[in-house]
Amino acid sequence: MGDEAIISGSDLEQLEKSLLDSVQNASDLSGLDEVRVSALGKKGQVSRLLKRLGFLAAEDRKSFGQAINGIKQRVGLAIGERKKVLDQEALDDRLATESADVTLPVRSGPLLDGRVHPVSQVMDEIFEIFADIGFSVAEGPDIETDYYNFTALNIPPEHPARQEHDTFYFNERDDGSRLVLRTHTSPVQIRTMLEKKPPVRIIAPGRVYRCDSDQTHTPMFHQVEGLVIDTGTHLGHLKWVLEEFCKAFFEVDEVKMRFRASHFPFTEPSMEVDVGYAKEGDKIRIGEGDDWLEILGCGMVHPNVLRNVNYDPSTVQGFAFGMGIDRLAMLKYGMPDLRAFFTADLRWLKHYGFMPLDVPTLAGGLSA
Ligand code: PHE
Repeated sequence: MGDEAIISGSDLEQLEKSLLDSVQNASDLSGLDEVRVSALGKKGQVSRLLKRLGFLAAEDRKSFGQAINGIKQRVGLAIGERKKVLDQEALDDRLATESADVTLPVRSGPLLDGRVHPVSQVMDEIFEIFADIGFSVAEGPDIETDYYNFTALNIPPEHPARQEHDTFYFNERDDGSRLVLRTHTSPVQIRTMLEKKPPVRIIAPGRVYRCDSDQTHTPMFHQVEGLVIDTGTHLGHLKWVLEEFCKAFFEVDEVKMRFRASHFPFTEPSMEVDVGYAKEGDKIRIGEGDDWLEILGCGMVHPNVLRNVNYDPSTVQGFAFGMGIDRLAMLKYGMPDLRAFFTADLRWLKHYGFMPLDVPTLAGGLSA
């Protein structure tokens, strides 16, 4: 048994005093933590003392044990108090050095540098308008089966309409069938009707593909399909919906629209719709002038299509339309060349793009 084993009352007093001193003298949080470890840690001074209790005579053990635990407690408390003071000092320091000058102008950051692509902006505007008249959004895949893209839409194999679509076909599969890049969003009509019972009121936006390229055609472009099926739906509803849409979208009180008789295998009767506009230099005015731009195809859903999805054409009927989103964007925002939409030129996007925080709403303005 060496000196180490002897514990005296004055030793303890001295130890406590020196520990409390070092707590008080700790000048920052890491210094305080060092003191805590060297005093109360597993191998700290107090723990070492506790281990020595075993060497004491039984009658001394209890009183020294209590005394050491007392030190442990008081030193622990002192550390807690000191920590509060140091925490506050650290906070005061930070507040003094990290003060923000709220009068400074807003710094431009990535959020302000980025732009929303006009196609995304126009899609958001379209969602907003149709949501307001009770439509929900449906989706379908870009890679479609021949059946959904054509056959179910009353375009049987060998039908001439298949040639008109300039379809991108995939290689033949083992069973002889070929997948296609969808040539329009109309297959989403089929998918939606197979999934739910009438009434149906949806729009379906997305990419479509045709092997075609010039100033107003790109091999990939965007459409939004509309489909309404109910009892008693008629052509008047279709015209009303399209007129309301155009007025809201172009943000004008009156729109000049022209409904031309046309032909689609999946609608009967079928129409194409043009919007009247006037060109004034670089500017385009909607609802005036003698120029027309075709923006959509539409019609009453063909009874064969309804039968293909197990609807009964004698009890339900409806209308469908398919609009070119990129065309709508060109018209509304005066962008002359469709091909520039998809070349990913940042200068173009900076010029024609939209601020990410200006979300289009009917109340706040679509193109605010
Ligand atoms: N799918 C047609 C097209 O792409 C547009 C259309 C949709 C026409 C719905 C009528 C009804 O040209």
